[in-house]
Amino acid sequence: MEPSRFESKSPQEVLAWAFEEFGARVGIAASFGLEDMVLIDMASKIADQFTVFTLDTGRLHEETYQIMDRTRSHYGIAIQSYFPDTEAVQKLEREKGFYSFKESLENRKECCAIRKVEPLGRALSDLDAWITGIRREQSVTRTDFAKVAEDTDHPPLIKINPIADWSLKQVEDYIAQNKVPTNALHKQNYPSIGCAPCTRPIEKGEDIRAGRWWWENPDHKECGLHRPA
Ligand code: ADX
Ligand code: SF4
Repeated sequence: MEPSRFESKSPQEVLAWAFEEFGARVGIAASFGLEDMVLIDMASKIADQFTVFTLDTGRLHEETYQIMDRTRSHYGIAIQSYFPDTEAVQKLEREKGFYSFKESLENRKECCAIRKVEPLGRALSDLDAWITGIRREQSVTRTDFAKVAEDTDHPPLIKINPIADWSLKQVEDYIAQNKVPTNALHKQNYPSIGCAPCTRPIEKGEDIRAGRWWWENPDHKECGLHRPA
């Protein structure tokens, strides 16, 4: 596999290659934002069966559960949800309360480690490759992501980012042209959606990830799912 050969390929070509190469051993990681809905829609037009998994942190918005259920029925697919370890969440909440992530960067990363990163490890243990909706222009921490590369955080897995080079406009145009269902929060100025207590709507002119962990410096705004390439 030569990563650079994928750079000129369309998202559909990259997805078709991924399904052919890995079959049931590749999964789409979805938080059901606009980008993931594009990938799910494309996948439904390429493959009869494909795997979608989500990390249900237990702190998601009601609207996110609604789009997850809508996705199940619209595409007729199951969604493999992964929940955080019960003991770890109980310990965290009992020792540090229910909003420890607001107190320090260290505490925020601890919560993300328990609710996202550890469950991601379990999700990936059944896979040889995973597909994400990452786009390079989303953040200063994402400019170097390749469309296909070895996942250095989870070797020997392959990480596939089919729309890495897409703009937000391309995403929105695809959604409109293909009548893709979306999370109701997008209409309330939430371009990027994570956990409810750590996401707010953005103001006009603000960066698309300005509403994520808005109290932190942009250089820190990763939860550990995607460390800079
Ligand atoms: S995050 O790391 O800041 O939360 P972001 O919301 O930009 O990530 O999403 C980037 C990609 O990470 C998504 O397109 C999706 O592939 C994956 N992802 C993010 N959150 C989840 C989640 N809760 N479950 C599964 N995949 C996720
Ligand atoms: Fe915890 Fe917030 Fe990270 Fe969700 S985004 S896992 S609530 S710190």
